[in-house]
Amino acid sequence: MKAVVLNTYGPPAGLQIKDVARPVPKAREVLVKVRAASINDWDWGLVRGTPFVIRLIHGLRRPRIRIPGVDISGSVEAVGGEVTSCMVGDEVYGDLSDSGFGGFAEYVCVPERALAKKPANMSHVDAATLPHAGLLALQGLVAKGKVTAGQSVLINGAGGGVGTLGIQILKSFGVTVAGVDSAEKLDMMRSMGFDTVMDYRSVDFTRTGKQYDLILDAKSNRSVFKYARSLKKHGTYVTVGGSLPRLFEILVVGSLISLFTSKRLLVLGLQPNRGLDRLSELAEKGQLKPVVDGPYGIDDIPRLIQYFGDGRHLGKIVIDMDGN
Ligand SMILES: NC(=O)c1ccc[n+]([C@@H]2O[C@H](COP(=O)([O-])OP(=O)(O)OC[C@H]3O[C@@H](n4cnc5c(N)ncnc54)[C@H](OP(=O)(O)O)[C@@H]3O)[C@@H](O)[C@H]2O)c1
Repeated sequence: MKAVVLNTYGPPAGLQIKDVARPVPKAREVLVKVRAASINDWDWGLVRGTPFVIRLIHGLRRPRIRIPGVDISGSVEAVGGEVTSCMVGDEVYGDLSDSGFGGFAEYVCVPERALAKKPANMSHVDAATLPHAGLLALQGLVAKGKVTAGQSVLINGAGGGVGTLGIQILKSFGVTVAGVDSAEKLDMMRSMGFDTVMDYRSVDFTRTGKQYDLILDAKSNRSVFKYARSLKKHGTYVTVGGSLPRLFEILVVGSLISLFTSKRLLVLGLQPNRGLDRLSELAEKGQLKPVVDGPYGIDDIPRLIQYFGDGRHLGKIVIDMDGN
């Protein structure tokens, strides 16, 4: 089968497109024919081996994971002897970030617990955008952020995967939403329903004087005190990503602020695939329409990972495996 192979940490251009042996499922695994996959921050980090914590997890000098790719949508080709939740021919999707990656290949073996039925009304290309970014948004806004009707919400880094899915999840709650991202993405964000948009290069949202009930941050890069200042009384700030020192600061200082004031400042640790059925329900009701950058072919993956890292994409970058 054709796969994108990672031999050593380094720039994405070093990835090789190769023919490798098709994997065989173990007892509790499912062999999925990958029909579409999307690119995530985990791929950008794994391929380059940065930040350093990636090497602590995946191998100090050489990556133990040889095929990147966490978000997939596809069809079940074979099942292991103890699999009970899937049958050959089922259409499934999932996030492989805690089950060994491997999505950038024609076939991948996946533990059955990492898969859910693909939303029936969605193409594989659309479904592949959802598991990782959709659940960061859902867990951040709903499970941690506890969003409720009438609130005023801000998403920082709103034009990427998390923000473009997050705005659609928020729509069903009847809230007003501000979005912050680069100038090129603001028209797209307005068209998706953000009530207010800001270009982070010309506006610092923590200095506008406006306060929010809930802030979801995909790019935490300011001091925790600035975020606290931008929250209303009883407001909640949830970060899903940013530099490690900032995340550490939010974890430690944010907990103290949460202890001594009515404001909560939280770091989300993604629980892969938890809530995927809820995303499927929203998708089947027509309430989630992903923004797809592409679809592209498997041969494009090395340059697309670089394109993701350069932040030039809109929404989610998707690879259509059937296109090759
Ligand atoms: N919590 C967890 O367990 C977990 C797990 C996996 C991933 N993550 C994190 O979750 C985040 C995923 O977000 P995503 O998929 O939506 O990423 P994304 O698609 O790269 O979107 C991020 C957006 O933020 C914008 N941006 C860059 N700098 C900014 C700034 N200073 N202020 C405001 N916006 C800025 C980018 O635009 P430009 O590049 O055009 O400027 C881009 O549109 C990443 O930070 C990742 O590390 C967390």
